[in-house]
Amino acid sequence: MIYRTLGNRRSVSALCLGAMNFGSSTDPDTAIAILDRFVEAGGTFIDTSNNYNQWTGHGGESEELLGRWMHSRGNRDQLVIATKCGARTTVPGDPDDKHWEGLSASVIDSAIKGSLERLGTDRIDLYYAHIDNRSTPLEDTVGAFGRLAADGVVDLVGCSNTTSWRLDRARQLAAGQGVEPYSVIQQHYTYLWPSPLAQTGVERLGTPHFPHAGVEHFDYLAEHPDVTLVAYASLLAGSYAHLDRPFPAQRGYAHPTAYARFEVLRQVANELGATPNQVVLAWMLHHNSPVIPLFGASSLTQLDEALDAVNLNLDADVMDRLNNA
Ligand SMILES: NC(=O)c1ccc[n+]([C@@H]2O[C@H](COP(=O)([O-])OP(=O)(O)OC[C@H]3O[C@@H](n4cnc5c(N)ncnc54)[C@H](OP(=O)(O)O)[C@@H]3O)[C@@H](O)[C@H]2O)c1
Repeated sequence: MIYRTLGNRRSVSALCLGAMNFGSSTDPDTAIAILDRFVEAGGTFIDTSNNYNQWTGHGGESEELLGRWMHSRGNRDQLVIATKCGARTTVPGDPDDKHWEGLSASVIDSAIKGSLERLGTDRIDLYYAHIDNRSTPLEDTVGAFGRLAADGVVDLVGCSNTTSWRLDRARQLAAGQGVEPYSVIQQHYTYLWPSPLAQTGVERLGTPHFPHAGVEHFDYLAEHPDVTLVAYASLLAGSYAHLDRPFPAQRGYAHPTAYARFEVLRQVANELGATPNQVVLAWMLHHNSPVIPLFGASSLTQLDEALDAVNLNLDADVMDRLNNA
């Protein structure tokens, strides 16, 4: 394993394991085996949310499973646990975005209590605003996250599914309030680019889309080295590996340029004796800006494949070919 600095002060494994399906579509025994293997391999950074996985279960199973697992292994202090609030449904059984809790100060104060209880811990290492909830004043959200950090209930704070201007505004508001600023952003980001105007998410909470990390985010990161990008859906939800699984059209990936770029990825993977998934993860680890790939695995075989990506060296020529495709 290799390690990276998160938000300028926390050392984490350079790969982050996504626990979204743990305890719901990934059964508890398999999830625990994956978690154990990840930690054996030096993994320390695990991602969950208070709403995982409300699309396949009731929501909360992932945090509950992590809580049971950390308790049984006694390993809480060795881990960096990230969780989120804002997109948990307020109507049990109906995960539709019109029911999402949003990011008011009162929601955040109540959501953190639920996450701490399910995780069986007294602190969260990284707490994210899961969405950009534009119907709540941003200063209220930033202030509530800041108070949690000041109280020592959370260490780092971050935001997800946001644009670079909103990230910057949030950080300026935090500076004005004298509270902990967002220092981690979690965005959809993978090797393929979606078509620029693809509508990729919710509008009902006043949020235009779930923006993929793009040029403006990377420009922001280059100027703000204390901010780290965590890239979710790095494996394109399995589309690189399951050849019968089309690129997600609703996310804007099913276009001719994406298929041409995928062809270059496959050629590079063949030449290196690696898999496309491994090349995608290694390509992110070779970025100039700090990017931590966040990936999902539903079996030990999938996990092992991802873990091996940290040993894959991509030389400058290969990086050029991948970048220029
Ligand atoms: N911030 C946000 O809004 C947000 C949104 C979504 C997810 N996330 C986070 O990101 C994490 C990862 O999300 P994700 O699961 O959608 O992303 P992903 O890493 O792009 O996809 C993971 C899926 O790819 C397939 N896969 C992985 N390795 C494989 C292999 N070697 N061979 C074949 N298939 C393989 C598996 O699907 P099968 O099980 O079907 O084989 C696996 O569940 C989540 O757990 C969550 O923590 C965050």
